[in-house]
Amino acid sequence: MFIVVGVTGGIAAYKTAQLVRLLVKDGHDVHVIPTDDALRFVGLPTWEALSRNTVTTSVHDDVARVRHVALGQQADLIVIAPATANSIAKMAAGLADDLLGTTLLATTAPVMIAPAMHTEMWQHAATQANIDTLISRGVHMIGPVAGELTGGDSGPGRMVEPDDIHAAVVRELQAADPVRGSAAGQHWVVTAGGTREPLDPVRYIGNRSSGRQGLEVALAAARAGAQVTLVAANMDPSLLAPVTQTDPPAAGNSSSRHRNAGPSGSGDASGSSLADEGPFASPEGRVRVVAVGTSQEMGDAARDLADGADVVVMAAAVSDYRLAEVAQEKMRKEDASGPLTLELVETADILAGLSASKREGQTIVGFAAETPGEMTLAERAIRKRRRKGCDLLAANEVGWDRGFERDDNRLLIVNNRDEIVADVAGSKRETAESLVAAILAR
Ligand SMILES: Cc1cc2nc3c(=O)[nH]c(=O)nc-3n(C[C@H](O)[C@H](O)[C@H](O)COP(=O)(O)O)c2cc1C
Repeated sequence: MFIVVGVTGGIAAYKTAQLVRLLVKDGHDVHVIPTDDALRFVGLPTWEALSRNTVTTSVHDDVARVRHVALGQQADLIVIAPATANSIAKMAAGLADDLLGTTLLATTAPVMIAPAMHTEMWQHAATQANIDTLISRGVHMIGPVAGELTGGDSGPGRMVEPDDIHAAVVRELQAADPVRGSAAGQHWVVTAGGTREPLDPVRYIGNRSSGRQGLEVALAAARAGAQVTLVAANMDPSLLAPVTQTDPPAAGNSSSRHRNAGPSGSGDASGSSLADEGPFASPEGRVRVVAVGTSQEMGDAARDLADGADVVVMAAAVSDYRLAEVAQEKMRKEDASGPLTLELVETADILAGLSASKREGQTIVGFAAETPGEMTLAERAIRKRRRKGCDLLAANEVGWDRGFERDDNRLLIVNNRDEIVADVAGSKRETAESLVAAILAR
């Protein structure tokens, strides 16, 4: 989340350093905007070092990027701590003579303020009238509380402690997006892409799945707070770039191995182990990629990883058949007499296997890609879910002009009581978010 922290000129500014640390640690993109007076209490380098972003007080810096409104426009939330009597009055009047003022006028994000001042200043009719004005505009108040003040006296006007301001911000973000953070502490395995079954060293039988929908599911789960292992079958590296090129680079967060369709059973497909995971700052950094090629490799990786997973989402298009025998040399046309006949044998049913062996409390989610036919999508989804035994099944319609290699999709999600829990159309990010919400709602 893009969070602006406004800091105004009170002694309590030093405590806001801790608030910035906590927000950065949560993985937020934090931009501090101090007032000129605030910098007399805590210097600019402190805010830059803690927030890891450039800090300025003036509307005349970084003009090329229209900074005086850009931060407000981008903000998901603005919190001002401490909020002085002066800055509260300026907010109420809508003054915009510095970067904090213009940012506040340019935003539609929630604004929270943590006032801090001496009791007399807090209780003054002018301050109280300004506070009423701000509350009437939807500004959220955090405190102040009664306690010891700067001069040694005590009374109402003390800033709420940074940990409590942080908790209020987390609650506000949670209220705006109930899914966010609700998968914290969970490990999800998401499969994506399409497996390839080799005919010989140069050819394979594959499918049109790009892996976009699975990648979006992985990212939506990461935004919800989960650590995610994405088992990617033959996905385009440029599509995976958001999760393989995170900055700072996350340990173990790269494609462990890129495989072309090699002979099934040619070795372990699970890539790096779960022990590679660590606490990552950004949602993208919470996604680790394990690259696989064939359905056998996909099955090995999924089974291996499912042991430690709270949720397994099988979004990959896995081949139902493979070659009974893979030619070790390229098949040549001149060696064949007449039409070529290939003998295909069934591959293992990974989803049914995982559903049959699932642990208590684990959620197994299947995907179905169906071309339109006599049965409705819902009927086919219910039938397939029963056959596979998974907890939820997300069905999407595919065809020459739908489902694959596109940014939009329709997902119909059924549960193990044969109920349709969601039927959503939109971008693959939106449909992924609906699926993750449905999984978390179980
Ligand atoms: C040591 C010291 C502490 C101060 N603490 C506060 C305070 O806690 N709250 C407040 O409203 N003003 C406080 N002030 C006064 C503000 O710094 C002053 O009103 C200033 O103009 C605020 O500017 P700003 O709101 O643009 O940051 C303090 C001033 C000094 C010198």
